[in-house]
Amino acid sequence: MTDQIYPAGLLLTGRKVVVVGGGNVAQRRVPALIAAGARVHVVSPEVTPAIEGMVDEITLVLRGFEPADLDEAWYVIAATDDTATNEAVSIAAEERRIFCVRSDDATKASAWTPAVGRHGTTTVAVVGNREPRRSAGQRDQILHLLREGELDVELDRAPGVVLVGGGPGDPELVTIAARHALASADVVVADRLAPRELLDELSPEVELIDVAKLPRGRSAAQEFINEVIVERALAGKRVVRFKGGDNFVYGRGFEEVIACRAAGVPVTVIPGLSSSIAVPARAGIPVTHRGVTHEFTVVSGHLPPGHPESLVEWDALARLRGTIVLLMGVDNAPAIAAALMAGGRSADTPVAVIQDGTMPGETKVLSTLATLQDDMTAEGVRPPAIIVIGDVVAVAHPERFGER
Ligand SMILES: C[S@@+](CC[C@H](N)C(=O)[O-])C[C@H]1O[C@@H](n2cnc3c(N)ncnc32)[C@H](O)[C@@H]1O
Repeated sequence: MTDQIYPAGLLLTGRKVVVVGGGNVAQRRVPALIAAGARVHVVSPEVTPAIEGMVDEITLVLRGFEPADLDEAWYVIAATDDTATNEAVSIAAEERRIFCVRSDDATKASAWTPAVGRHGTTTVAVVGNREPRRSAGQRDQILHLLREGELDVELDRAPGVVLVGGGPGDPELVTIAARHALASADVVVADRLAPRELLDELSPEVELIDVAKLPRGRSAAQEFINEVIVERALAGKRVVRFKGGDNFVYGRGFEEVIACRAAGVPVTVIPGLSSSIAVPARAGIPVTHRGVTHEFTVVSGHLPPGHPESLVEWDALARLRGTIVLLMGVDNAPAIAAALMAGGRSADTPVAVIQDGTMPGETKVLSTLATLQDDMTAEGVRPPAIIVIGDVVAVAHPERFGER
């Protein structure tokens, strides 16, 4: 009969830890040991390329195991696929009173690696009845509850402003840090493109301030937003400024940073997945492709070419050969297509227009620069939409544009 295990946390900083074996198990364990600050020695005649790539962070001993390898060690992992070697490691560890994990036979080990996950400052470690898959599943369930705020955790509730990028729209595409920040908020100041489903999860006492900027309608002035976030934070609240995509990509996020700094309000930033990359990706279009394009340019189309306030050199853009990702370009798409063709881009340059990307109503229109206006009108394209211009669209859709 095995006695119950006694769980403990190990502080391995600066301590020698020996991993015997250089295969997949070692590859999975070594990064966590490095992250814990251990002096990791990997002993194995051969190692995977990934372990070889860690050579600056570990001591690599490229030969078979010798018991003296464990001298001065605090912890050892026997991770070879050879039972006899693992057994030799166990024996040498026992003689030296070092706890030893066995990858081949947990019943012969003196220590076990738990299924580990982290949420904020909390570490979850599950040691099941030597059923690693079950332990990993239980760990995932606990982490899920923590991330959803269904298990109480110590959240950073300090007053201040947190700029949170909400990703392109699908709530599955927000970061863990974003969820964490929302769970900690007293006030949420949200835009139209921030993932709406997540607002439904806020607890009733959270104040929700809707500053939706409808492209052709009501518009909350940026000054009002700056004022409201600063004012609530100075009143001792933790304010989440929640936007679609990334706050610094056409999100006026840095104006909010400046306003907070001017008022002495602490401000932090949680980056989001920008729609400029995520929407094409989800729609199956890469923004770069080897041998096809070496650059992609993200451009705002909110002003037409030739507008006195435009900061875009459309001629220069037309002369580039790479992908153009156009945001806020629905209204000006015909004028932009004309400017690109006038600047030298071929009329048959492939174009994809993705509306409501990553959301349930997502649609995609395939077109060319020459036919963009007609195709967008025929399909009734409306914002929000991303317009991808370039040969990557043909790479993704050879059935429409032929092989390029
Ligand atoms: C004011 S910009 C904000 C961009 C945002 N900060 C980002 O990083 O994704 C709004 C534009 O982003 C694009 N956009 C954002 N979310 C989108 C989505 N889910 N589908 C298509 N386009 C989207 C549209 O071009 C829209 O007009």
